[in-house]
Amino acid sequence: MDFDYSEEQLMIKAAARDFAVRECLPGVVDRDEHQQFPKTQINRLAELGLMGMMVSPEWGGSGLDTVSYVLAIEEISKVDPSVSVCMSVNNSLVCYGLERFGSDLIKRKYLTGLARGIKDGQLYIGAFLLSEPEAGSDATSQRTTAVRRGGEYILNGMKNWITNGNSASVYIVFAQTDPLQGSKGISAFVVEKRWSGVQVGPKENKMGIRGSDTHSVGFTDVRIPLENRLGEEGEGFAQAMKILEGGRIGIAAQALGIAAGAYERALSYASQRKAFGVSLATHQAIAFKLSDMATRIEGSRWMCLHAAWQKDKGMDFSLSGSMAKLVSSETAMWVTTEAVQVLGGYGYVKEYHVERMMRDAKITQIYEGTSEVQRIVISRNILGKRTATSSEESLRKETIREVVEAGMGEEPLAQN
Ligand code: CAA
Repeated sequence: MDFDYSEEQLMIKAAARDFAVRECLPGVVDRDEHQQFPKTQINRLAELGLMGMMVSPEWGGSGLDTVSYVLAIEEISKVDPSVSVCMSVNNSLVCYGLERFGSDLIKRKYLTGLARGIKDGQLYIGAFLLSEPEAGSDATSQRTTAVRRGGEYILNGMKNWITNGNSASVYIVFAQTDPLQGSKGISAFVVEKRWSGVQVGPKENKMGIRGSDTHSVGFTDVRIPLENRLGEEGEGFAQAMKILEGGRIGIAAQALGIAAGAYERALSYASQRKAFGVSLATHQAIAFKLSDMATRIEGSRWMCLHAAWQKDKGMDFSLSGSMAKLVSSETAMWVTTEAVQVLGGYGYVKEYHVERMMRDAKITQIYEGTSEVQRIVISRNILGKRTATSSEESLRKETIREVVEAGMGEEPLAQN
């Protein structure tokens, strides 16, 4: 049985596959080795209309659905996940965030260019700045501040592990506007990289997705005009959570693609390579590995498509998106490790790709919510919101609530 794809979805899948094989495969080993940002490939993605795939044409996007997006990300990730993460962050974190929460002014000024991926003939992409040196999974503990002064905010702080950190022209930055309010004191702003006081740190020397552009970004007295705030003050954390729900489908599809790419290589090698007089795939030890790989990949694919389908239908996809990301990223790590095993000595050598895929797979269990964070989201969905709380902030809020409730309970007695 197969998903009931439309002709348009199949066309997007074929175009993405063609782009990946023709334009991403050449040089992928070198780009990994030298940590080279795939600028030519991202420019081509922009020309193909894949940098703002789901944005309405009114704002410069291609107006496609999330299923098409999953298919495109999977195909590109089979070959180069450094390309697909740049695409995923621009599409599902930045463009989605601006289209959903931005004013018409913000959309006109930023989204139209970001959805095309090009402005004034130059690459024009965005980044999502939530994580900090001491606030990754515990995102409400961030310390960056935006203090309102007249008609502007003054931004100070530091953000870490920012995908597209240097290549982006536009950042969505989350900052405390009222630190006493916890998650309700966080607001989101659109900040331009070229503004005075923005400093981009050196590129991180990473284990995997080495072509992608990961940097810290610091802010010293950066002046943000009032109209660059996304929505109202205090809405930033909930906005970040909503944006990440969609982002997780993109990373789930990336993980799926990494797993599928490694499996295709393992299958092809095992079918050709001979050992003990027969093809490797004839040995049950290898045939069973290939069966498990294919089965887990198929499961991940259905979960990604289900989450995407729910999003396209306007249904709640918080649970299905987190489940898809959890299963696909764990599958990617497992399948790529097994692919290295199937290829044996060749698997350990760079030009056979699967060792890079194994390194690339690891990050999918970490970014846009670690596997542990996905389990928090999943358990809250199935057991009730306050179960499996891990953050001190939630405990603090619980304590405040209990104290307030106890106080309110006593008040009528005192009045009597
Ligand atoms: N939609 C709307 N509101 C939401 C929400 C959602 N999905 N999730 C939470 N909220 C609201 C809650 O309702 C709550 O409000 P109330 O107090 O009124 O109920 C408020 O936000 C705070 O939520 P929690 O109490 O649940 O917050 P928490 O501190 O317990 O944290 C968490 C929950 C799920 C662990 C969350 O912090 C989280 O998702 N952390 C991971 C962050 C993350 O994914 N970072 C990745 C960085 S981006 C990245 O990697 C990009 C890149 O470059 C590739």
